[in-house]
Amino acid sequence: KNIVILISGAGSNMAAIAEAAQRQDWASQFGARIGAVISNRPDAPGLQWAWQHGIATAVVDHRTFDSREAFDAALADAVDAHQPTLVVLAGFMRVLTAPFVARFAGRMLNIHPSLLPAFPGLHTHQRAIEAGCRFAGASVHWVTEALDGGPIVDQVVVPIFDDDTAPSLAARVQTQEHVLYPRAISRVLPALTVPAWAEAKDEAA
Ligand code: GRF
Repeated sequence: KNIVILISGAGSNMAAIAEAAQRQDWASQFGARIGAVISNRPDAPGLQWAWQHGIATAVVDHRTFDSREAFDAALADAVDAHQPTLVVLAGFMRVLTAPFVARFAGRMLNIHPSLLPAFPGLHTHQRAIEAGCRFAGASVHWVTEALDGGPIVDQVVVPIFDDDTAPSLAARVQTQEHVLYPRAISRVLPALTVPAWAEAKDEAA
């Protein structure tokens, strides 16, 4: 059962997930492994981390397509090439079209750096500070056609300090994202992965 992770940049969330998969032995627990890391940016530093950790990588460069739809179709094919049980958007900075979302409905997660439904979209930390919020955080949710709007799987909360800036708050939130995302994935995997023995039974039946 393959988990395919999509990134656009540093991939620190991807790395945290890959390390949890190894440390918590998701292969034995869920029959799940990180099948591939795919980026829309050829220069995404996360690709190097994945490659160095023996994880298959691929690039679908959005700049080489003349439409959003054409890019999404190529990306979907690259994802499907790894037979994904779960697609994980981890710092993936593209808005996906409805056909792409529909193709992976019910098995695609995203992480958003706010306590959804508060602050969908960009610049979430600056907006939370300016609103006078006492807490910020991150949310893992199922991806639907509503940007940052799908059912929430899990969240983490961090305090906002009086002297916080967007960067200082972002750093505190991101540390917790690296706890949240692996926890959220390990919560949904059992419902998505059929244990090998069950598969064998089905085939025998
Ligand atoms: C994370 O802070 C996440 O909340 C947001 O983009 C950032 C990506 O970080 N979606 P990384 O690429 O996982 O390091």
